[in-house]
Amino acid sequence: MTKFIALIPAAGSGSRMGNALPKQYLTLGNHPMIYYAIKTLSSNANIAKVFVVLSPEDQDWDHYDWHEFSAKLIVLNCGGATRAESVCNGLLAMQQNNAVDTQDWILVHDAARPCLTTLQLDKLIEEVCEDPVGGLLAVPAADTLKRGDAKHRIVRTESRENIWQAQTPQMFRHELLVKALQQTEGKMITDEASAIEAMGLSPKLVISDSYNFKVTYPQDLALAELIIYKRSIA
Ligand code: CTP
Ligand code: MG
Repeated sequence: MTKFIALIPAAGSGSRMGNALPKQYLTLGNHPMIYYAIKTLSSNANIAKVFVVLSPEDQDWDHYDWHEFSAKLIVLNCGGATRAESVCNGLLAMQQNNAVDTQDWILVHDAARPCLTTLQLDKLIEEVCEDPVGGLLAVPAADTLKRGDAKHRIVRTESRENIWQAQTPQMFRHELLVKALQQTEGKMITDEASAIEAMGLSPKLVISDSYNFKVTYPQDLALAELIIYKRSIA
């Protein structure tokens, strides 16, 4: 039977956050940020395993107790120089461990999206599991879009029609995703869907909402904190 397997790339340094501690370990509520992604993914009955890809130089993972996730959690120390490299290394490592079949679904999810909900995750799985290509959570662009120049002057207003902001999880079959990432190696790829698109395929956009934002800058951390706190008292 086809399995659903989560892969969390967590080998980044969080340079835009400007904190010496990689952002996936910054405290949110009572836990490091990555805890929430692991919790939501491993709590989902459809998901068989949750792989976390750390940097080989990671110094922080072992400072925390991950025992509550031991039934599903597997840690790989094979992160690379880019997100795409970390994901590709993780996919190859799980293959070497015989933990995956070629047609299994892989759900790649950023460690830095702690506010993913079970509802969003279920919706993605339901809407993509019969799809021949795969898909991702995304939100239709809400703001007016301006094309700017190097001096921060507006060149023109871009149409918002059919523009989406990509989120994660991004869900593709193992074999297809490895092939796509290997073919785009060395190119500037910031998500899995871009690699699939480069093969001439059109991943499915599954409507999500802005709660599943990526924590990138310090103010994002404050917002995530508010959301996590509100959920903890609900
Ligand atoms: N990531 C990774 N390996 C890398 C770079 C990023 O596994 N070489 C992971 C991050 O840890 C994060 C996700 O990819 O979970 C999304 O990347 P991003 O938000 O860009 O995180 P960072 O690269 O850490 O942040 P920054 O770009 O600000 O340095
Ligand atoms: Mg980055």
